[in-house]
Amino acid sequence: MKGIILSGGSGTRLYPLTKVTSKQLLPVYDKPMINYPLQTLLSGGITDILIIVAPDHAGDYLKYLGSGKDFGAKFTYEIQDKPEGLAQAFLIAESFMDKEPVALILGDNIYEDDFSEIIKNFKSGAQIFVKEVPDPERFGVVRFDEQMKALEIVEKPQEFVSKYAQTGLYLYDHTVLDKAKSLKPSSRGELEITDLNNLYLKEGNLKVGLVKGEWVDAGTIDALYKANEMIYKKKQKK
Ligand code: DAU
Repeated sequence: MKGIILSGGSGTRLYPLTKVTSKQLLPVYDKPMINYPLQTLLSGGITDILIIVAPDHAGDYLKYLGSGKDFGAKFTYEIQDKPEGLAQAFLIAESFMDKEPVALILGDNIYEDDFSEIIKNFKSGAQIFVKEVPDPERFGVVRFDEQMKALEIVEKPQEFVSKYAQTGLYLYDHTVLDKAKSLKPSSRGELEITDLNNLYLKEGNLKVGLVKGEWVDAGTIDALYKANEMIYKKKQKK
């Protein structure tokens, strides 16, 4: 399986911290934020990794991550000119993916869980990972029936759907590219990962896993603070 780290966007919610560098290079305790999603892929045995970055900070990424040799991996870089949605990653990654299955992780998502067995055993369809959160309106949210069968995913629901947020790690088979090509921009002008996942769901090919340990989407100042605290506490325990 190949990997993609989506690390673009403008980081406006973290301004002025993001005035001189990318959000995903800001420190989370003792490492730049991107180290954590990178580690999630590496520990799953994924070493062929595409890093998608915004044009302004491409140089910072190259300087920090380099070829990938220091991490025992091979890194390829692509630029996303404008933040036109998470699912645009697959259009940008077309030649990199080369019809192979792929794991997409967001550069600001930090997990405690180890996904290595799930990644190694992944065969077809798609898999997402949900976590119960107190503020589901900030995320894509999965609606379940009484048997906990997923019925649909709603992006940033205005009305209560469930407490289960879709987190920022997604596994896909090679059909993801054609599906991504079929998407139309949403009302906020983005190719939505939620629309993509709903296509797999309608086909009956979407698996929904549960995130057991802590998870943080470090995209806001409070969440960034929480992420620092989470890593700090983990280090103290060791
Ligand atoms: O964190 C999980 C959530 O991520 C999901 O629950 C949502 O369904 C999904 O839409 C997404 O929501 P966010 O509001 O967190 O998306 P955001 O626009 O903050 O983008 C997530 C990360 O991806 C962020 O680090 C910036 C980067 N990004 C975003 C866009 C839209 C890109 O690199 N390119 C883009 O075009």
